[in-house]
Amino acid sequence: MSTAAGAALLLAAAVVCSSADGESEARRRAVPAVYVFGDSLVDVGNNDFLPPPAPRAGSPCGVDLPRAIPGGRTGRFTNGYNLADIIAQRVGFDMSPLAYLSLTPQASLDLLSSHVGANYASGGSGILDDTGNGTITLREQVKMFADTKATMIKANKLGNNRVNRLLSQSLFLISTAGNDFLAFGDGRATRSDASAYIAKMVTTYLKHIKELYRLGARRLGLLDALPIGCLPGCRTSFGHDDACDAAANSLARRFNALLRLEMASAKAASMPGMEYSIASIYGIFSDMITNPELDN
Ligand SMILES: *[C@@H]1O[C@H](CO)[C@@H](O)[C@H](O)[C@H]1NC(C)=O
Repeated sequence: MSTAAGAALLLAAAVVCSSADGESEARRRAVPAVYVFGDSLVDVGNNDFLPPPAPRAGSPCGVDLPRAIPGGRTGRFTNGYNLADIIAQRVGFDMSPLAYLSLTPQASLDLLSSHVGANYASGGSGILDDTGNGTITLREQVKMFADTKATMIKANKLGNNRVNRLLSQSLFLISTAGNDFLAFGDGRATRSDASAYIAKMVTTYLKHIKELYRLGARRLGLLDALPIGCLPGCRTSFGHDDACDAAANSLARRFNALLRLEMASAKAASMPGMEYSIASIYGIFSDMITNPELDN
């Protein structure tokens, strides 16, 4: 990802963390742990442990990462730090917590003492179970987190109440939805049933969020859907190289609007004490594409 993207992604982090402590305390950890869920924008290596057809981050991904990354392989679908890293840095960590599937016994101990968190994200995955053949679906990611919590309690390093308290103070970050729109390109969904498809995306997303709430999440940062019609694959597949596909972008905007609406009513109806923020990745990427000179 370019430096322009890096600059914009910092903005995204600022949006997500706008309620965190002030600039002067930027290095102080604002949360005890970060738990990350979602797709390639935040995957830090889980897919390295999955067989095809799950996508793997190949060269030149990772070329701009500092050498400090343990193990050499970065597992990220970006040249440098990805959004999970940047947001974790904003709340006082060096980078994203490790990929869940990469955890060594020592890293598992750190995870179990809950002072790090874990990253369950899988490139290519989406909200729906049908999205991202071979990837870790959001449903499975939430299940892995449930297993993590159960193990933390069973390991008895912390009592049940302390685990719940730590989780309630931790940051839960989710970046998803973009890959679900691929269904419109491969025939699994059509523009005429777009409303039902988008409604199903939001309903399913809310179901997984409510499960995280039930498991103890109380601080949630969501990244909304990208302007999918401006992604390189989409532009060329629709036959015009520099214009974005307006119809595809409108699907993303409809999802984003419905997500904001349904999230607000779900919080009011059934998630008391949930603090959340939805960062407009759509707006940030659109600005970068329309006004590249502003970013660099
Ligand atoms: C998923 O991928 C496997 C392995 O490539 C393939 O055999 C299977 O048909 C795929 N399933 C779907 C639903 O595309």
